[in-house]
Amino acid sequence: MEDVFIVRGGKPLKGEVQLSGAKNVALKVAIAALLFKEPVAFENIPAIKDVEELLHLMRSLGVATTFEHNKLTIDPSTLVHHHVDLLHGSKTRVSFLLFAPLLHKFGKSVIPNPGGCRIGARPIDRHIQMLESFGVEVKYDSNTGYYSATKADKLKAATFTFEKPTHTGTELAIMLAVLAQGVSIIKNAALEPEVDDLISFLNQAGARIVRNGSEITIEGVTRLVPSVNSYAIMYDQNEAVTYGVFALATRGDITVHGVKRGDITAFVDKVLEAGGGFEDLGESLRFFYEKPLTAVDIQTAVYPGFKTDWQSPWAVLMTQAQGTSIIHETVFEDRFGYVAELEKLGCRFEFFSPDSTFSRTSYQFNVPAHFDTKRQAIKIHGPSKLHNGVMQVRDLRAGATVLIAACTAQGESIINGASIIDRGYEHIEVKLQHVGADIARL
Ligand code: EPZ
Repeated sequence: MEDVFIVRGGKPLKGEVQLSGAKNVALKVAIAALLFKEPVAFENIPAIKDVEELLHLMRSLGVATTFEHNKLTIDPSTLVHHHVDLLHGSKTRVSFLLFAPLLHKFGKSVIPNPGGCRIGARPIDRHIQMLESFGVEVKYDSNTGYYSATKADKLKAATFTFEKPTHTGTELAIMLAVLAQGVSIIKNAALEPEVDDLISFLNQAGARIVRNGSEITIEGVTRLVPSVNSYAIMYDQNEAVTYGVFALATRGDITVHGVKRGDITAFVDKVLEAGGGFEDLGESLRFFYEKPLTAVDIQTAVYPGFKTDWQSPWAVLMTQAQGTSIIHETVFEDRFGYVAELEKLGCRFEFFSPDSTFSRTSYQFNVPAHFDTKRQAIKIHGPSKLHNGVMQVRDLRAGATVLIAACTAQGESIINGASIIDRGYEHIEVKLQHVGADIARL
């Protein structure tokens, strides 16, 4: 396999797409299953690379897993190792969440500095502050790149406030607190719906977790018991936004099944503001081209704002809109890796420092002293008629973005790095062929 997609673009994509299970839930509930004593079963788990990498890592710890036809079982009783090796641990950002089950089971764990997409430094300082608030001792060996964590005896409850919200940090806190002694309170917790799916999975197994806005109260229990039915995770809202943009950018018409308007309000509002066609079908949403789009500015924010995972697909859409639009990325530094790739097809971008009224402390990442904000905002000049090109995938969402651009451009484009897109999009070329795309995987 060449790890390449070949796309002949310029055709409106029309038809229906069934969403797959949410990547950013599947990875977490699989890890949370290791908090149990007996096998746990899940449904609607997407067959994507990030899931396969995580299961590979779990098997290296001795865990027995079965995964086929989107059904996953995890047998936590076979977990025998507390040391995550660099080969497996560095391939996925979520390896760090294994601290919770490994500490609960062994009282200690060793995990390499987490990997994941190349979108900024992605430090874990907030995770470590939270771990220490639970009485966990965390050491980092800069020679080996490993973190080691140990806890004295039974984990005690804690009250912890994140200085800035962190999605996986919130999930790690929940997995620590769920079996700790006493009542824990997590403040300034992340509000993403994926966190709530993890909470509902744990609560149906006997956990006592209550969310009150950005405050989550967790009354520790002694044991989690899987329900008789396997747990079906939610659909992927990031995938829904991606296919909504495929429809609008190619002047097509796609109905996306498995998403409600309330799930992605911030995106739908911007589509309507730009003049995109939209129909609310309840558990499905229809996106269609009905008139020339107008340029609309976005500023990413933590949920329920316009999510950072949606900004790169939005960027390629705005290259087709009339006028100049702005994207200001406030969650991650360096999340414009796609710009240079899209410029190969004739897109016109311009980096600039966002308005000085935006306080640097409002960025979600830790802002270094002499941070250049010039890489945090772009102007997008449209409309641009896109031509074909050879592009490289930089990270997961940027990969979907260059795929949208290739489907929009006239002519045959080559996309190197198909496997990076496979990390988060299940059978993407099949779903696109189903709505008329001329795409092949080599
Ligand atoms: C999760 O990443 C998602 N990944 C990301 O999706 C998503 O973009 C992000 O949340 C925001 O919603 C998974 O769930 C596996 P954060 P996460 O901790 O938890 C900084 C995708 O494409 N920060 O909320 O790593 C961090 O660098 C991926 O599916 C610290 O500085 O994101 C970032 O700038 C991409 N120190 C910001 O906070 C910390 O200790 C938000 O990060 C923790 C985070």
